[in-house]
Order: sequence, then structure tokens, then C-alpha cells
Amino acid sequence: QNIAFMAGQVGKDGYRHYMEKELHEHPVAIGQTLQRITDPASKTIALPKMPFDPAQVPRVTITACGSAFYAGMVGRYWLESLARVPVEIDVASEMRYRDAPQPDKGVALLISQSGETADTLGVLRSLKKAGQSIVSVLNVEHSTMGRESDLVLGMVAGPEISVASTKAFTAQLSVLAALSIDFARARGTIDKTREETLTASLLDLPSRAAEVFTRVEAIQEMARIVAEARDVLYLGRGICTPIAFEGALKLKEISYIHAEAYAAGELKHGPISLIDRTVPVVAIAPSTILFDKTLSNLQEAKARGGRILAFTDAAGAKRLEGVAEHVVILPDVDAFVAPILYAIPVQILAYEVALLKGTDVDQPRNLAKSVTVE
Ligand code: AGP
Repeated sequence: QNIAFMAGQVGKDGYRHYMEKELHEHPVAIGQTLQRITDPASKTIALPKMPFDPAQVPRVTITACGSAFYAGMVGRYWLESLARVPVEIDVASEMRYRDAPQPDKGVALLISQSGETADTLGVLRSLKKAGQSIVSVLNVEHSTMGRESDLVLGMVAGPEISVASTKAFTAQLSVLAALSIDFARARGTIDKTREETLTASLLDLPSRAAEVFTRVEAIQEMARIVAEARDVLYLGRGICTPIAFEGALKLKEISYIHAEAYAAGELKHGPISLIDRTVPVVAIAPSTILFDKTLSNLQEAKARGGRILAFTDAAGAKRLEGVAEHVVILPDVDAFVAPILYAIPVQILAYEVALLKGTDVDQPRNLAKSVTVE
């Protein structure tokens, strides 16, 4: 009834599906989420006071489900590389039963759009019992998880009706990026200049995100190739590997086409045997993130008849000539925020493929918006 209530509150505003509307709300969701955690005068990140000292935190445990988990995977890269804090990460349904040793005075970082996901709520309770401080990144703040957390970092994405998570995902990433800057500042692992550069690239993101929608025709061309496939491989490297996982999940859940995501370096350890002309390879490849490595992986795939479809920037597109059959060129952004920007076109791709397949985009078969059962 929660969904029905929210649906009553918000119409489709003339879009064909809630998902299409919510895709177009990415820039606003990112902007509103950041606005809430940025000091307007100094334009610096200003998160609520933590119930612990980030400088003393021995480890952060990140856990969530589905797309929220992939957002957590990106958060791990940021916390490790910027704040130099050790991170343990696992999907909630596994973490809950791992009985992993928890450090004294550790922090558990849980991510959930609904705040009602049974697996994530279950692991919240077990980590709390293990003495961890509970920080939850939530869209529905007054949810069960919200009530049981020591600190809630709210996403301001607005009601998300479509079963496939879209704007909540980039709102989660925006909070995690801000949290990483906050931790790095507290731990003295970034200087003022670096902090200003990172913050500026975050605050500039809503307009870069809006620019992505000028690429929809190129994404539709890519969708026509993907829609013909039975199996699709998504590849990423480093901080964009989780975006490959998000892209594969979106394709699976709304178009029912099988897709798998891999860290591009893993291709030669087995998956490359899958490659032939019938298996498109979608690469999430900004030129600023391990591009040379990704390029050689894509050349290997192409040499085996693979059809390479790439999301990249202008510099990357030049170097992919002769390798990629189809390229969507995205605006240039700092590597720090590339995973947030690149999440948008991979979600649009899944939407465009689902349109071609004629599936029920907003209510895909077998799925619920919030999985409140184990
Ligand atoms: C995402 O498109 C899916 N609908 C699903 O994986 C979702 O992200 C997952 O169930 C977690 O939901 P939550 O964020 O409400 O906890």
C-alpha cells in the first residue's frame, strides 16, 4: 500500500513509464541530495555530526542488496582510496550469516532505498549486536532501518515508484562520495586543494547528468544491438566495475535478457570463451580510469568476434576507433564522479532495450519494489 500511496502522490508527468520519469530525475535527485549535505556559503561538504570520530574508525563494513550493493561497491573504492580506511563488503544476505569477526568500534554502512529490505535489516541488527555504529543511507528515512540506525544519511531522491532503481542509485552514490570526502578530511588524507577539486566535481554533476540525455539517440542505437542478444557481457575496471554490475542487473530485471558483469581483467580467466558475434560486450570505459588495460581486454574480445559497445568520453572514443562497433560519448568528468555519471546511460540502455522487448518496464515479472521477505 506504500507504493500505491506514493503512486497516488506522483503521476508520470507525461512520461511513458515511472522509470522514464525517474531516469530524467537523476540531475534533480543528485542536486537535491548534495544540496542537503553541502554548506551553501563555503560550498564544502557538511554532513551531520557522526556518533563516532572518523579518524579513529578501524574499518567500515559496507552491506546492502541489489543496486544498493553496487553503490556500496563504488563507496568502497572511494573510502579506501580517499580516506585510506579499510573496508569489508558483502551482500547483506551473505554478510548476515557469515559470522565475520567485527572490529572494536567499527562502523557499518548500510544502503537501502526503501529502508525495509529484510536481508539488509537483518544484517543491521546483527552488526549492531556486534557493537558496530550503524550508519544508513536511506531514501525513506522514517523506515524500519531509519529507526534502528545510529545515524541516517538521507538521499533526497523523492518517491521512486518503478521497481528498477534509478535516481535512488545516483543519490546513494552522491551521499557515499560526500561521506568519503568527510572521512578523508577528518583523517587528514586529502589536502584542501584536493578536497575543493573533488567537491567541485560533485557539485557540477547535476548539469553533466542532464547532458547525458542529449545522447539518448546513440543509446537507442546501442539498444537495437543489445535487444537482439540472448546473452550480454558488461565490463568495467576499478571504480567503474560496480557500474558494469549495475548495468547488467538493470538489463536482466527489466528486459529479461541474460547479462553478466565482470571486472575486465577477469575476461581472460574464463568468460572470454563465451565471446562470439552473438554476445555483445558493453564496456563502461572512461578514458581516465585504467583505460589502457580495458582497451587491451576489448581488443582481445574483438579478436574473437565480439561486438564491442562502449560508454566512454571523447578521448576514449578516439582510441576505440577500429575496436568498438558502437560508442556513446559522455561528457568529460573527473574520474572521482565518473561512476555516478556512467550509471545513468547504462540504466537508459536497459530502459530502451525493455521498450524494444515490450516488457512491463515498471512492474517486471517476479519482482517487488521492496523485498521485505528473506
Ligand atoms: C534494483 O533495480 C532492484 N530493484 C533491487 O536490486 C534493489 O536495489 C534491491 O532490492 C535493494 O532495495 P533497497 O535499496 O530498497 O534496499
